[in-house]
Amino acid sequence: MTNRTVCLLSTGSHRKQGVKKIKICAVVAPGSTDPVKRLSVNLDHVATLREQRHTPYPDLTRAADLARAGGADGITLHLRGDRRHIQESDLAALSGGLLPVTLEIACTPENMEILRKYKPFAVTFVPERPEELTTEGGMNLSVASAMLARLIPEIRSLGIRVCLFLEPDEKALRLAKDLGATMVEIHTGGYAEGRVSVEEILQAADAGDSMGLEINAGHGLTVENARRLGQGKIHEFSIGHSIICRSVMVGLEEAVREMKAAIQG
Ligand code: PXP
Repeated sequence: MTNRTVCLLSTGSHRKQGVKKIKICAVVAPGSTDPVKRLSVNLDHVATLREQRHTPYPDLTRAADLARAGGADGITLHLRGDRRHIQESDLAALSGGLLPVTLEIACTPENMEILRKYKPFAVTFVPERPEELTTEGGMNLSVASAMLARLIPEIRSLGIRVCLFLEPDEKALRLAKDLGATMVEIHTGGYAEGRVSVEEILQAADAGDSMGLEINAGHGLTVENARRLGQGKIHEFSIGHSIICRSVMVGLEEAVREMKAAIQG
């Protein structure tokens, strides 16, 4: 069975390397209109381990290479105000890499400087509270819409794709579209915690897709709960914590073996 490759878009996160455009392709199975889902791997928690001791390891560039070898289609980095995991230097190092970088960041005029400087492939605006353990919910567009309406045209003119992190709510998706976003990421945290049904996520994805939005989804997804979202109109999944946790389980044995060999002298 041969798959049809449809190139959805191209852009330039590789400008620093002199490569003007990269193509992001979606593979469509024959007879199907649903593209094969892309996976953007969130590397924040690799950086969390490093920042806990300010060691030079684990190396994020190497982590991105391993993610790519495993089939990742992109890398997601959340640059928080308190810089508790990803640093600007990570963004600089990974922006020139082989995978497109989606930068998660709060929507503030100060963060526009970061976007102008690094020009990631895409930006996902998220709400951010300094005390939160992780992003707690989608954006409140009634609060953020004036700022977004002001910033989105400039971001788009920089060639950066704009994505808004939203609850699975059709009204919010419509507002995002009206504000000029081309993508939305549906917050799946409530679904992962059993407060939101799989149908609610899939219906929101359907509604957004029929508005012409590209639909991403993420937060709290694991192999088990992500599988149930696979049939929906979700183009890209942004997943971090469960993948990094799982990598401990699949990699610990080898890491111990290496250390045991090293101490034999
Ligand atoms: N999407 C957004 C907007 C996020 O803030 C996060 C967490 O940084 C994720 C996806 C990834 O969530 P998780 O680490 O639970 O997979």
